[in-house]
Amino acid sequence: MTTIDLDYSTLDQTKLDDLTAYIDSLEHPEESLIHVLHRAQKLFGYIPYNVQFFVAKTLKIGAARVNGVVSFYSFFNEQKPGKYTISVCMGTACYVRGAEKVLQKLLEKLEINKGDVTEDGLFSVKDVRCIGACGLAPVVTVGEKVYGHATEDMALDIIDKYRGDLDGN
Ligand code: FES
Repeated sequence: MTTIDLDYSTLDQTKLDDLTAYIDSLEHPEESLIHVLHRAQKLFGYIPYNVQFFVAKTLKIGAARVNGVVSFYSFFNEQKPGKYTISVCMGTACYVRGAEKVLQKLLEKLEINKGDVTEDGLFSVKDVRCIGACGLAPVVTVGEKVYGHATEDMALDIIDKYRGDLDGN
C-alpha cells in the first residue's frame, strides 16, 4: 500500500513562505493555479503531495483539482527527479518517427519505469508533448540540451555521456 504524505510542516519553511508571498501577491490566486504550481516546482524542484496539499489549502480549492493539473501537465514532476531528466517527445511527428522505441530503450537500459528515478538518483525519464522542434524528430532533451533525430543507439550514448560527465570525463 502506498502512503501519501500530506504533512507540509516538514517542508522548508523559507520556501513555503516564498510560495505564500507569491500567492498573496496575485490578484486572483484561485484562478492562477498553473502559475502557483510553476512557482512551487521552481522552489522545491518538484511538487510532491504535501506541496500540492499546501497549495490546495492556501488557494482554498480541492486537492484533487491540484493533483489533476499536476498529473496532466508533463512539465510538472510529482516525484523528485533524477540529477538528469531525460525527456522524450511523444508529439505526433516524433511518435511517427520512432520516439516510442527510443523511450523504451532508455527505460530498458536504466531499468526504470517512466517517471521513476534510477537507484543512484542520476536519471529519470519522462515523455513530453511536442516541444516545437518537429523538424528534428524524434527529439530527446536533457535539461536545455536537445538531441535531434534520436535513435535507440543514441539513447544509449546519451546515458553513457551523462554517466561519464559524473565521473569527470
Ligand atoms: S512532435 Fe516532437 S518536437 Fe514536435
